[in-house]
Amino acid sequence: MLNPKKITDCLSKSIKKRLFIECVDCVESTNDLALRYSPDTVIVADEQTKGRGREGRTFYSGRGGIYMSVALAGEDVDRLTVRAASAVCGAIEEVVGIPAAIKWVNDVICRGKKACGILCESRVMGDEIKAVVGIGINYSGEIPPHLKDIAGTLDGKKGEEERLVAEILNRFYLDRNFLDFYRSKSLVVGKEVEVDGRLYLATGIDDRGGLILEGNGERIVKSTGEIRIPLSRLV
Ligand code: BTN
Repeated sequence: MLNPKKITDCLSKSIKKRLFIECVDCVESTNDLALRYSPDTVIVADEQTKGRGREGRTFYSGRGGIYMSVALAGEDVDRLTVRAASAVCGAIEEVVGIPAAIKWVNDVICRGKKACGILCESRVMGDEIKAVVGIGINYSGEIPPHLKDIAGTLDGKKGEEERLVAEILNRFYLDRNFLDFYRSKSLVVGKEVEVDGRLYLATGIDDRGGLILEGNGERIVKSTGEIRIPLSRLV
């Protein structure tokens, strides 16, 4: 289990007192747990038994990974995803020391494979709107055979996990230029992508993190859902 004090010690001074960090061994889903907590609570687990991914998929959450969720008050979920992806990308480069990039909208790619997925959700709970940012990182350990073609690990060093979690939080809370950073790390801008079976050229990212697509005589902004682009064409 990660050490919450070690995480807190690595947080920037301005957020140290604001965040409450709880580390657990195994949970069904850190997103579900965090939705029940007050804003600025961070849940970090070593394993999840019902890890959730986007579009109703399951997210493989075995040992060796880092599964974390940040509870927030209701916020624009699209922008949260972009903020989180930028934070993870920058933190991996700084702490693990390998290049990282982003496949719109929420996948962080390292060494040509998905190393991290992000799921931001919001719910109405009583008379409050709650939001949660869920981040799943393949930090170390084995990737199951059926995922090996698309997913890879960071091969992160033992003992550096807490610093990575803290650096993600520092950037998530404090980086005001996350959108520019996100744009600079995008693997899809300038590439041909497939959306609902049609090909478009991805020409940019708008201020809410939407993907600007041109083709088929139109210009559209895709704010949710999936695009298809072979991983081999991303690098
Ligand atoms: C995706 O790639 O489809 C998104 C995966 C998001 C996984 C994280 S792990 C922590 C948090 N808890 C969950 O159940 N899901 C998110």
